[in-house]
Amino acid sequence: MRDFICAANWKLNKSPREAVSFFKEFLPIVEKSNSQSKILFFVPAIDLWVSQEILRDTEIGFGPQNIYSKNDGAFTGENSASVSKEIGCTHALVGHSERRSLFFESDELIAEKVKTALEQNLHPVICLGESLEERKTGKTNEVIGRQLKAALSQVDPEQKVTLAYEPVWAIGTGEVATPELAEEAHSFLRSQMNELKGSAFSEKTSILYGGSVKPDNCENLAKMPNIDGFLVGGASLKVESFSQICTAQY
Ligand code: PGA
Repeated sequence: MRDFICAANWKLNKSPREAVSFFKEFLPIVEKSNSQSKILFFVPAIDLWVSQEILRDTEIGFGPQNIYSKNDGAFTGENSASVSKEIGCTHALVGHSERRSLFFESDELIAEKVKTALEQNLHPVICLGESLEERKTGKTNEVIGRQLKAALSQVDPEQKVTLAYEPVWAIGTGEVATPELAEEAHSFLRSQMNELKGSAFSEKTSILYGGSVKPDNCENLAKMPNIDGFLVGGASLKVESFSQICTAQY
């Protein structure tokens, strides 16, 4: 019923030329598999154009790793949601923990970005997750509950978004959350969505897990009832590992 999604987050990696050679190797592998997963790529902004040239006739979605809340104006260095849409992007990543911590994005700004993405018919994949300190001090639910409430504050229950639960301590560390621990957070997020937006919204919204996902841990994570796919950083940079994650039988 919910989409099972395998999404790549390339971060600040791969030139347009490297992106093209990745897709040329990757596409035949997924095309001949009978994978049921929906595949997405969040690429550096400078790779979006070559990505659309290759991906536009496929079922694969793609988009920027960040958009600004305004579509145009004096905002040097930002990415426009409306321009992303114009060149064929389908999705936008919003509120990644690196944006929150390194670029000081607030819950309020993230809420504005989610609204802007939806207005432009870009499907937002909204990231949230607690730091190690927050987990150790028992604040996980408080933090992800707050992030969720803010991010959905301007979302209508009829609209479609995707969540990505990414505990900060698991991102790029090799320390993946156990399936049980991830499931606990996912089921909490599901129940919060139910309270905030109703059961139809919470049931249709896929919740991805992100943080050190690899071919050897994805299948066990996917057995959990509230884990509806993955947001993959490091392991999405190699065709071999990302195609294994996308073509695994979940
Ligand atoms: P990772 O990154 O898979 O390298 O841990 C995930 C992410 O930051 O989205």
